[in-house]
Amino acid sequence: MAIALEKHGPYALITGASHGIGEEFANQLAKKGFSLVLVARSRNKLDSIASRLSGTHRVDVQVVALDLMKDTAAEELVAATSHLEIGLVVLNAGVYGFGAFLDNSLEYERNLMQLNMVAPMQLAHHFGHKMAQRKRGGLLFLGSAAGFQAIPYNANYSASKAYVLLLGEALNYELKPLGVDVEVLAPGMTKTEGTGAMRGVDMGKMPGKAMDSAQVVAEGLERFGKSPLVVPGSLNRLIANVGKYLMPRRAQTSFIARMIIPALVKKP
Ligand SMILES: NC(=O)c1ccc[n+]([C@@H]2O[C@H](COP(=O)([O-])OP(=O)(O)OC[C@H]3O[C@@H](n4cnc5c(N)ncnc54)[C@H](OP(=O)(O)O)[C@@H]3O)[C@@H](O)[C@H]2O)c1
Repeated sequence: MAIALEKHGPYALITGASHGIGEEFANQLAKKGFSLVLVARSRNKLDSIASRLSGTHRVDVQVVALDLMKDTAAEELVAATSHLEIGLVVLNAGVYGFGAFLDNSLEYERNLMQLNMVAPMQLAHHFGHKMAQRKRGGLLFLGSAAGFQAIPYNANYSASKAYVLLLGEALNYELKPLGVDVEVLAPGMTKTEGTGAMRGVDMGKMPGKAMDSAQVVAEGLERFGKSPLVVPGSLNRLIANVGKYLMPRRAQTSFIARMIIPALVKKP
């Protein structure tokens, strides 16, 4: 079964819905008849997406403007949505950038872990409970091709996506018998506002071709409930398999470092 309103509705909560991949999830889920809860910091952007989607698709769209890097954010989001039946949670908000680990502040790295790892884990725990009680629902984690191997000069980000990958795959197994579908969607480079403004790197010099977010999201929704891990794009699947089956881990790390170093703003 792909994503389905009867199994994974009526409300889908999407973190990081104000632009990029999260906004595309909002577009495609509203088109399928889901009512939405849109979460990000930029209230104005969320409000304008909400009025566009509720007008076009006749669904209810609610907005929660919240900084998910705050320690109390998950509790606040749970409280703000306690009156709604959330059947799908898309754990999408994330921060990324390139640069030497020792050049980044500890505060930056800690905030990255809060947004990319801690908040998704907390929300999966809360909403997973509710869904298991109802014996229906779904959690969709945004992993990344960056989580399949170590990436020098993107170290803590790739580690955060490895965490998401393993958490999501394990939860797919644990929650399936409880009626809850779990997917990790692991895109390669995707055209979004975030990649357009990515810190520490010259995007024009990055290897590979970025996918469209519409295609990434469509594949994630089409494969939902069928597979614990979805890698959108045939080239990304090929690269993931070559890395996994044909290259020793150390060789993967130095290969990827050699690809990235020419694109770094500050060379090592
Ligand atoms: N684009 C890619 O190439 C790519 C590839 C693989 C995986 N991914 C993953 O896909 C997800 C989305 O990426 P994207 O490229 O679409 O990112 P993006 O364009 O930068 O959008 C990020 C979203 O997260 C929200 N956000 C950022 N910080 C937040 C915070 N502290 N609290 C609440 N919301 C926050 C942003 O909204 P506000 O600024 O309004 O808060 C925005 O809606 C991320 O998890 C990323 O790691 C992306």
